[in-house]
Amino acid sequence: MKQIIDVNVKTRRAGLAACKTDMLVVGRFCDVDEPDETIRELDEKLGGAIRRLVKLGDFTGKPKTQAVLYTSGKIAAERLMLVGLGERKNATLDTLRKATAIAANRAVDLKVRRLSLALHRAFGDILDAAAMGRAMAEGVYYGSYRYDEFVTESENGRLASLDAQIVDPDASQIRSLGTGMAIGAVIGQVQSYARTMSNRPANVINPPALAKAACDLTRGYKTLRCTIYDDRQLAANGMGGILAAGAGSQNKPRLIVLKYTPARKPAAGMPTVALVGKAITFDSGGISIKPAQDMDQMKLDKTGGIAVLAAMKAAAELNLPVSLWGLIPAAENLPSGSSYRPGDIVTTHSGKTVEILNTDAEGRMILCDALAYAVRRKCDVVIDIATLTGACMVALGPYKAGLMSNDDDLVRDIEKAADDSGESVWHLPSGDEYADEIKSKIADLKNIGSRWGGACTAAAFLRQFVGETRWAHLDIAGMDVYQTPVPHAALGSTGFGVRLLIAYLMNLSDKKAGKA
Ligand code: BES
Ligand code: MN
Ligand code: ZN
Repeated sequence: MKQIIDVNVKTRRAGLAACKTDMLVVGRFCDVDEPDETIRELDEKLGGAIRRLVKLGDFTGKPKTQAVLYTSGKIAAERLMLVGLGERKNATLDTLRKATAIAANRAVDLKVRRLSLALHRAFGDILDAAAMGRAMAEGVYYGSYRYDEFVTESENGRLASLDAQIVDPDASQIRSLGTGMAIGAVIGQVQSYARTMSNRPANVINPPALAKAACDLTRGYKTLRCTIYDDRQLAANGMGGILAAGAGSQNKPRLIVLKYTPARKPAAGMPTVALVGKAITFDSGGISIKPAQDMDQMKLDKTGGIAVLAAMKAAAELNLPVSLWGLIPAAENLPSGSSYRPGDIVTTHSGKTVEILNTDAEGRMILCDALAYAVRRKCDVVIDIATLTGACMVALGPYKAGLMSNDDDLVRDIEKAADDSGESVWHLPSGDEYADEIKSKIADLKNIGSRWGGACTAAAFLRQFVGETRWAHLDIAGMDVYQTPVPHAALGSTGFGVRLLIAYLMNLSDKKAGKA
């Protein structure tokens, strides 16, 4: 099968005008009248070409805009790309990350092999250099990603590899940018891995195939261990929720248990964290079947589980000093003679019973077993991530993930990770009012609430399974996919949650080390 684009990122100390490359990229804010030093210098060499472009109104510096100039040998680069950075007062790391992704996306379309990035120069010292190096490396992977492993016929082929470099004339800047870049490259790689896994269709990735991929991945690392519970072991352990959701499919459900033990013992007071990710490899709705329109998108219902898998890989790559569990309940939700039905009463791993009123509310059925498993293993913090409810998409649109929690400090930590990673969240409630809606008359719980507040009742359901353990829930429905291409990414899986989870884990260790 075809590989995804082979990306390399490096740093390079060079003057911008002298930088020999296929495309040099600089950024410009839309609300600064005078061009900064970087642009002024290049513009002079180009005989005022940038100034003319701006004067003609062909490049405004607004977000999501870009322009490519051909340099005719006046500077060492073949092409100069300008990327709009929006208003300077709104500049964040994500401005830089997205601008980089726009450049990388365009570079792949233009079949530019050598891409030289000086986008950070526009930010001066409003952002930390290492953080900028990280964001740019993440952006390079993000924007250049393409999913075409099953395309056998294509007209012109696509770029096989992209060599990106972060360019700066200053040696100490280059050093700081480089430290961040090395981390960003790992994060970028695992996020691309996640996108490919999520993009793969359900006839390729089913629960046993996902379990095998997880074990294959862990074999590369001494610090990772993988244990698979197959359907018989799920039954032996009373995992009725996972078994129910997967009962309709020939592809039997699995619980994938990953354990990351850092090479050195974590500092005292460092929590043991469990990451729990929903991996429904296809969600047809089951007996409560979904409409045909867009049902194909439900191959992406495994995105949360894959984000967990990718975050575990990153933890091992980056040697993060925190003990981790990665729990991925995997099932295929299909209608058949062996499916679970509306009206069924299911006994979950926790011992709590659930009356099934809609088989399409299957995510919470697999998550509740995994959450109970994490609590039994005495994890200090449990974070679950799931494409859980259409209601969350209705509430927040495809811009922010829902964040529900029983702990305000954890909410703050995740909000901070969202800022650092550019994967945005919005705090929503999950308290007692919502829990009242999912009480059953004939079992402990029922698996759906009333028509309103569906994201919150789903979270309240999950909350019943964590007891006093510090817990947060990320509802990423709608964040999993770009239905059409965007300036900074190709269509398909977004890999959402990978950067967010890694940022949370990295901040935990920085906090301990007194860095943040
Ligand atoms: N996987 C879906 C949620 C979803 C919908 C994700 C659209 C991404 C896009 C989930 O399993 C589901 O079907 N939820 C139901 C719950 C309902 C039956 C209470 C929903 O949101 O309609
Ligand atoms: Mn469903
Ligand atoms: Zn689902």
